[in-house]
Amino acid sequence: MPRHLTKISDLSKEEILRIIEGARNIKAHPLAYAERLKNKTLLMLFEKPSLRTRVSFEVGMTQMGGHAIFYSVADSPLGKKESIEDTAKVLSRFVDVVMARVNTRKTVQELAANSAIPIINALDDFAHPCQMLCDLQTIVEKRGTLEGLKMAYCGDLHNNVTYDLMRSAAVMGFDMSVAGPSGPGFEVEPEVLEECQRLCAVSGGHVRVCATSQEACRGVDVIYADSWMSYGISKDQLQERINRFMPFQINEALLQVAKPDVIFMNCLPAARGMEQTAGVIDGPHSIVFDQAENRLHAQKSLLLFLLGQPLLD
Ligand code: CP
Ligand code: NVA
Repeated sequence: MPRHLTKISDLSKEEILRIIEGARNIKAHPLAYAERLKNKTLLMLFEKPSLRTRVSFEVGMTQMGGHAIFYSVADSPLGKKESIEDTAKVLSRFVDVVMARVNTRKTVQELAANSAIPIINALDDFAHPCQMLCDLQTIVEKRGTLEGLKMAYCGDLHNNVTYDLMRSAAVMGFDMSVAGPSGPGFEVEPEVLEECQRLCAVSGGHVRVCATSQEACRGVDVIYADSWMSYGISKDQLQERINRFMPFQINEALLQVAKPDVIFMNCLPAARGMEQTAGVIDGPHSIVFDQAENRLHAQKSLLLFLLGQPLLD
C-alpha cells in the first residue's frame, strides 16, 4: 500500500521531524539532490487556484531531476465523464505521485482509496498538510525547536489550515489556541476536535478554542492568520464575513499580549486590512516570506519521503 498524505496527522511526530530535517538539509545543499527524482513524474491536479503550491511543487520536481504535469480539473473529465476511482487507477499507471488541490475531502479520500501511488492533499476543505510541513520547518528555523511552543490562530475556524494547525499541535505535542466567530458554518467541526483530543492524550499537546483573540494570544510564541475569504467563498459573502471576523483581526495591539519576540505567520495569500493589518504583515514580527519559501524545501523532502528515497544527502 502506498503512503498518502491527506492531513498532517497521517504522519507521526517522528516522521514529521524527519521530513523537517530533510527539508533543512535540502535547503542547505540543494545540488546534492539534483538527480534524486530522475525519471519521476508528479501529476498536479488543480480544482482551485494557487501560486505557492503550484510553483513550489513544479520547481521542486525540476530541481530534483524529475518532471511535474499541471492538470486542471476544469479541462479534465474528472467527476463528469470519468469517476475519481478510474482517474486514480489510470494515473497510477502513468505517474509516480499525485498532488491534488480539490474542493472536497471526499475527492482526496477517493483518490487515495483507489491509487497505487502516493496521493498528496494540496488543500481541500479539511486539511492543508503541505503547508503544515513548511510552517513547522519555519518555526524550527526561527525558534530552534517545537518543544514548549505556544501558538495562536485567530480568524476563520471552519477552515482547512486551522484544522491542520490544530492537528499539528496535537501530533507534535505543543499548545494551540484558536479564536474566531461562533455559529453554524463558522465553528471547528466536532470530528476535528475529537481527533485532536485523542492525539493530545498521547502527545501531551493542548488544543483549545477561546472566546477572544486576546485570550488565545496571551503569552504565545507564534500568531497565525489565514484568509477570511478562502478559495471558493462567494464575493457576495464578503461584507458579512468582514463584520463577523473583524473582532478577530490580528493588529498591532493584539501582538502586545503575546511574547515580545512573537512571530507572525500567514500561509498566504493575504489581504492587508482583513485578517491582519498591513503593519503586522509588513512589520518586524512577520516571517511570511521565509515561510512561503519553505513550501519548496518541505515539499521536496515530502516527495522523497513518499517515494521511499533517502532524505539526507
Ligand atoms: N499557501 C498556499 O497554499 O498558497 P497557494 O494557494 O498560492 O498555493
Ligand atoms: N484557507 C485558505 C488557504 C489558502 C492556502 C483557502 O482555503 O483558500
